[in-house]
Parts: sequence; structure tokens; C-alpha cells
Amino acid sequence: MPKDTKNYEKYFLPPSLSDAKRRGREEIQVHYDFNIPEDMQSFGKDRYYLIQTYGCQMNEHDTETIMGLLEQMGYKPTEDRRQADVILLNTCAVRENAEDKVFGELGHLKHLKAEKPSLVLGVCGCMSQEEAVVNRILQKHPFVDLIFGTHNIHRLPVLLREAFFSKEMVIEVWSKEGDIVENLPKKRQGIKAWVNIMYGCDKFCTYCIVPYTRGKERSRRPEDVLAEVRDLARQGFQEIMLLGQNVNAYGKDFEDIEYRFGDLMNDVSKIDIPRVRFTTSHPRDFDDHLIEVLAKKGNLVEQIHLPVQSGSNQILKKMSRKYTRELYLELVSKIKAAIPDVGLTTDIIVGFPGETEEDFQETLSLVQEVRFDSAFTFIYSPREGTPAADMADDVPIDVKKDRLYRLNDALAQLSKESNDRIIGQALEVLVEGESKNNPEVLAGRTRTNKLVHFKGPKELIGRTVPVNIVDAQTWYVKGEWVPAAAVK
Ligand code: 5AD
Ligand code: SF4
Repeated sequence: MPKDTKNYEKYFLPPSLSDAKRRGREEIQVHYDFNIPEDMQSFGKDRYYLIQTYGCQMNEHDTETIMGLLEQMGYKPTEDRRQADVILLNTCAVRENAEDKVFGELGHLKHLKAEKPSLVLGVCGCMSQEEAVVNRILQKHPFVDLIFGTHNIHRLPVLLREAFFSKEMVIEVWSKEGDIVENLPKKRQGIKAWVNIMYGCDKFCTYCIVPYTRGKERSRRPEDVLAEVRDLARQGFQEIMLLGQNVNAYGKDFEDIEYRFGDLMNDVSKIDIPRVRFTTSHPRDFDDHLIEVLAKKGNLVEQIHLPVQSGSNQILKKMSRKYTRELYLELVSKIKAAIPDVGLTTDIIVGFPGETEEDFQETLSLVQEVRFDSAFTFIYSPREGTPAADMADDVPIDVKKDRLYRLNDALAQLSKESNDRIIGQALEVLVEGESKNNPEVLAGRTRTNKLVHFKGPKELIGRTVPVNIVDAQTWYVKGEWVPAAAVK
């Protein structure tokens, strides 16, 4: 890779997984002077864009930045592919099926590109950071105009110009993370806002591609995060979701100040915004100070997403999760002692290399012991370049599917039980909108993020109101709006 990637003007910079793996001690600079080049400021006038986003909330939030950039260039959004002058696929690399979807989509877009050669078709996000993906696009989908990665989103205006005028595929993917660029425009909608607090991950769990596609851990300066949250509060947002691959490693990389995630949460709790959540956290870095701060509640809601991945020590070790089943359970006990009504959610992988039925039973028993409100569950998917990809993927697919099915069954029962437990309570519900299937019914969320359906006037949308919970289903509860009720 050329040394000074930031000034590399050739726009053919493919990724390298081995470069991405190296963690240097280079200092990360923070830039506050972002501007769209003058000649690009009205480049999108009378033009339309469409972005398809795959994957996690980090990716969705990156899409908000990309939309912000495009709209500052004058582009307008469209849902109609035929109207679009720019189509971007913001991709996810975490599992193979996410990648398959993108390659399938490229197959469809080929025809559109043939009909409208002026269309700029781009691929960005985590898949772009993978060498094998970029090579495959070069060989099998040469009609793609632009590939850029997760570290150089701010370069979009320049890259778009290049892609528009060039006959070659424009590829600019930085294998090493870039600096932090503040003040990028963001197009946010609705009543909830995502806020990045850190980028990257240094944990290197053996199955995970993220440390390679998102680079090393870099925390945003506290004053920048707090200023953004204050600004969102002033704009009227009702809920903030603080984002990072591993939020409780926040601040570990600061050399000049001792300021960690607990300190940040403490400062955010003083800002006048109704609700603050965060995702995602790693059990290893979940310290006592953070628990103490969260226990004060206020706008810090009592819901924690705490990925466990497996309940078996043998598998946790092979995953390099850096904690044991016992440590995880101890952490859960500490959290429950400090915050008795906490709602815990998690991520679980089944069928990791070497997982036996006994290992899987350990996962099931941990799930019962913790009594998660809900979980994201996945079948293990080997990712090229990760250490686990070199382990024998020896659990037959039928067994993996059967375990996923049994796990989901157990989780559905736990979710129903947890929903049953809140019947009769009057809870604060943030009203998000009409329910998907019935416009007569409103849908909102409790502080523990349970979905509530109830009847009420549309004016309640965007407000936090008391709702009496009267009935429980597996994945949601039904309630009655009782304005005079005492809120627990
Ligand atoms: N296979 C299956 N699931 C994975 N995850 C991450 N990498 C893989 C993989 N290779 C899951 C983990 C993580 C979530 C975001 O995705 O459970 O917490
Ligand atoms: Fe992946 Fe592990 Fe980092 Fe989460 S903590 S992003 S699973 S490497």
C-alpha cells in the first residue's frame, strides 16, 4: 500500500486484509475542516440517488452520512431505480448470506446499467474492505463504476466526480483506518438518532471480520460527542443510540485524558434528552463504574445488549472472547443486583467449529439462567482471512439449523415469559408511529425496548406517554393509554 494514502490520487487502491490486520501506533488525527470541493457543491443538481443498506446500525448510520454528503451536493433521494443517477450498495461482510444478497443485487443492476450508461453504480461498506470481494467485482461485475470503503466515506464527492468522468472502475479502499473526520453532514429522520462514539474493534474474536473491515479502535473526543448529543436534543430528537463495535472500550485509546465509557454516559445523562441507549458492548470491558452510572437511570434506560456468543467455555476460548461462562454470569448478576428491572439482550452463534451437543446444551442453559428478553441468533459463517476460517467447519448444516431452531424456541418462550411479567404495570412508552399492520393502533417502546401496541390519538407520536400493559404476546405486548396512570 502506498505510504501516503490520503493524497493518493490514482483512485485504484484495492484493499489488503493482511495490512488491515496490523495494528500500528500511528496517531489518529481529528479533522474539523471538512468541506465539499467547490466544483462538486452543485454536481447533483437535478439528479437523484438511491442507497441500499445491509447489515448493522453502524452501516445504517454511515448511510445517513452518505445521504448527507449527496444532498449537500444537490442530489435528491428517490425510491425508483430507473430515476436514480447514483445507486450505492452499502454492504455488510459479517456473514456469507449478507454478501450473497449483494452479489445477487449486482446481477439485477447490470441490466439497469446497460439501459442507462450514465448511471453511477457504487459498492461501499464492509464488503469493499475485503480483497476477495473487490477481485470478484473486478472480474465478474466490471460494470460497477465505484468501490470505496468504510474509512474514506468523506472522499465520496471527489470519488463520485472521478467515477462520473472515468471509463475505468474507480476503487479507493484504505486498508488502514483513516483519521476521524468531524462535521460530516448527516441526514437523520424520525425521533431517534444514532451517534458514533468510536470506530473499529481491537478484539479480534476468531470468527469476526469486523476488526479487518473497520480498523483499529478510535474514540471520538468526548467534547465532540457531547456537542452532537446536545445539538440533537435541541433539534427535538427523543432517543439517542450511542454506537460503536465495542462501546465500552471507549476512551482506552486516549493518551492525554482518563475518560472512559462510564464517564461519557455520566455526562450524557446530564443532557436533556428523554432516552439514551448504546450498542454494542463486550462483557470483558464492562466495568463497575459503568454499572454504577447506569444504575442511576434517568435518561439512561435499563436495557443492555451484551453479546455472549456461546455458553461453553471450550467454544468461548476458541472464539477468543476473553471471558468464561462463569465471568459472564457473574457480570450479569452484578448488573441485575444494581438494576433489578434491567432487560438483557444478546447475540449467539451456533455451529462454531468443534461445537458439540454438550457445548450447545451449555448455551441453552446459560440462556435459561440469564433469562434474556431477546437475542440475535446466527449460524456460524466462515469469513476468509479470520483465524476461525482455518478451523475445520465440522458441524453439519442440518445440525446447525436444528440448534438454531431449538435456541430460537427457547428464546421465544423466555420473551413471552418476560412480556407476561409486565402485565398490569403502567410503563413509559415512547410512541414511534402507527403499527405496521393496523394504522388504528400505535406502536411504541418501553424503556427496556419492548414493543407495545395500543390505541390512542396520532398526536401522541413522538411523545413519551404512560401505557398500562394488559396482554402479552411472544414478541410484543398490548396496552391501554391511561394518561392519568402513575408511571412506574
Ligand atoms: N458467523 C456468524 N455470526 C457472526 N457474527 C459475527 N461474525 C459472525 C460469523 N462469522 C455475529 C456475532 C456478532 C453479530 C453482530 O454477528 O454474534 O455479535
Ligand atoms: Fe467482532 Fe468480537 Fe469486535 Fe464484536 S468484539 S466486532 S464480535 S471482533
